[in-house]
Amino acid sequence: MTPPLESDLSHVLLTEECIRRRVDALAREISEVYRDEDEIIVISIINGAIPFTADLIRRIDLPIRLDCLRVSTYRDDTRPHRNPELIDTLRLPIKGHHVLLVDDILDTGRTFARVVNLLKKMGPASLRVCVLLDKIGRREIPFHADFVGFKIPDEFVVGYGLDFAERYRNLRCIGVLRPELQNPPEWQ
Ligand code: IMP
Ligand code: MG
Repeated sequence: MTPPLESDLSHVLLTEECIRRRVDALAREISEVYRDEDEIIVISIINGAIPFTADLIRRIDLPIRLDCLRVSTYRDDTRPHRNPELIDTLRLPIKGHHVLLVDDILDTGRTFARVVNLLKKMGPASLRVCVLLDKIGRREIPFHADFVGFKIPDEFVVGYGLDFAERYRNLRCIGVLRPELQNPPEWQ
């Protein structure tokens, strides 16, 4: 039987198994790049990156410290807001430390442009970016992520942390939300 949330998808883009295998490979790549460092600071952009970060950090073979940033780009619809809002800030000082910034998806590039700019001013020893998904065709601001899970087409996706109005984050797969469930007419 199809799990209840999955019936809201027009199709599944990435299965649970496919995500699991790719996250394993990303964690190996990351562990290799940082193998000479004593410790790295992982900064997760919540809420979207929660499931991805949780799976990723448990497979990284290095000591890490974890902090979170909260940024809002979408409120309750599928169109991005022009200027991502920073709602919370870091607890850990990152000056002189190796920082890995983790997010669920790179879309227009506005969120990363904003966050990376802010973090660079704090003087980390290095700053790299890891995203599970990259919608390359949608970039408004040029931005390149150091570690990318999957390149995906320009479709609104939910699951494994990605939401629509805070829903579907607990789906185990990633899929395209049925068009009639996006921005329903009663919300306009
Ligand atoms: P950007 O600032 O346009 O690159 O957008 C990044 C943020 O937009 C992500 O952290 C997500 O929260 C959100 N986002 C972009 N595309 C999607 C999508 O297809 N589904 C759900 N959230 C998305
Ligand atoms: Mg989001």
